[in-house]
Amino acid sequence: MTIAASLIALEDIKLDRKSERPVYIQLVEQMRSLISEHRIGQGLKLPSSRELAEELNLSRKTVVSAHDQLIAEGYLEARRGAGTFVQDVSFLGMQPVRDIAPKSFYDYVEPSSFGEALPLSPSTPDKTQFPRTSWVRAAKKAQLSIPLSAMFAPPNGGYKPLREVLTNHLWSMRGIKCDPEQIIITSGMRESFSLVCERLFQKGRKVSVEAPGYQAFTETLKQNGLVPLHTKIDSDGLVFANVLNRSDPPQAVCVSASRQYPMGMPLSLQRRAELIRWASKSNGWIIEDDYDCEFRFAGPPLQSIFAMDTGHRTIYFGSLSKTLFPRLRLSFLVTPAHVASGLVEEQNRRGSLASLPSQASLSEFILSGQYATHIRTMRRLYADRYTKVFNYVNRELSEWLEVHPCSGGFHFAAQFRPKIADAADDAELVIMAHRRNVGVTALSTLGAPGGVDIKGFLIGFAGTDKKEARIAVSELRKLLSEHVKVS
Ligand SMILES: Cc1ncc(COP(=O)(O)O)c(C=O)c1O
Repeated sequence: MTIAASLIALEDIKLDRKSERPVYIQLVEQMRSLISEHRIGQGLKLPSSRELAEELNLSRKTVVSAHDQLIAEGYLEARRGAGTFVQDVSFLGMQPVRDIAPKSFYDYVEPSSFGEALPLSPSTPDKTQFPRTSWVRAAKKAQLSIPLSAMFAPPNGGYKPLREVLTNHLWSMRGIKCDPEQIIITSGMRESFSLVCERLFQKGRKVSVEAPGYQAFTETLKQNGLVPLHTKIDSDGLVFANVLNRSDPPQAVCVSASRQYPMGMPLSLQRRAELIRWASKSNGWIIEDDYDCEFRFAGPPLQSIFAMDTGHRTIYFGSLSKTLFPRLRLSFLVTPAHVASGLVEEQNRRGSLASLPSQASLSEFILSGQYATHIRTMRRLYADRYTKVFNYVNRELSEWLEVHPCSGGFHFAAQFRPKIADAADDAELVIMAHRRNVGVTALSTLGAPGGVDIKGFLIGFAGTDKKEARIAVSELRKLLSEHVKVS
């Protein structure tokens, strides 16, 4: 622990100058407690009596007297020419706040306490290939160039240069033509969706969400006073025809059109066209979640609904959580021009958690060309991992599971074969799998209250290397052989 750290602990000293108890005695008592409770630990050098006197607004004489008292009692030791140090008082038997005084943040927080994802966890990007040096270079350049005025302003839809580079990126990657003013940078899907719910939807109305689907949609709707309408999917994606014809139709439809989350199929062209027609006719909204579109293995990503929708009723959600890293906490939405300023106003009203310096770093990183390079590298890596894990699972687990091939992304669905589905509880099996170091998710738990009738596992491949994947798949095989009988 450094002097600075000890000063922080000493800040807890509260002296009551009106008390009948002399200030010098109060100081001795409180320093004694800090030492015996190990809040300032053994071996620590105390600030000088002059510094401490200044800090506590006392005369130097009072501090010297308190130090002398504690030296006499054995709590402190004065070393000639070196300063005053805290003595070992562990024999007093008080529990230390922590055993070892940290030298730095990283001594204090063990890397493992950040929580590593288990092998085969879905939605987990690979960590090993992250281009840290180019990211840091871009971040440094960005930090030196952000105008200070931007650092103190309201969010205003996000860092302008980032919104500008994203327009080019979206045009080349997704065929989306938009102005920077149509892009709003947020801290994640939940912030993006909350803005939309608050500004564009009427409280109490229904909004269709996929089942199985992304639970954050359901949760955000409820938090914003809206009612999720869980809507089934089939091999063409979301089955919304019946839902839209209800007497109380939803005000919006949320859809992961490029690759349905979690099952992986794209929304068919015919359904995209139907959805766009409905939205335009009934002033409905389409919320297009395109969170992992960058990682399509065969050919360019499918055309987005946003790009197809000439009626301007689609709001597009993108994320950097998958292409870079989840804790960056940067996502964005692309909105039709006619509602952009209202959404920016809403963001200014409630504030945003998207850090401006991170936005500037990202903008510089994209401009440097490293972002596109990183995506290309990861696409190749994920395609290779997908083939390997898909083959292992097919070879080892096909007695129990029917694997749904996928065209990209981070995970694929493996559904229980019909007879198995009647007998097996995927949620219970997943708890057991986690205990065996396998991070799969239960399909039945994704989406609707009480579960959906699709059972099986969502299996991640992107963040798991070949060796880990082979071990995890064989663990799953053991688990299924022990707990699920194939008749
Ligand atoms: C289905 C789905 N949509 C969107 C997102 C993006 O969310 P965010 O940008 O808040 O990380 C994720 C992230 O895991 C996701 O799994």
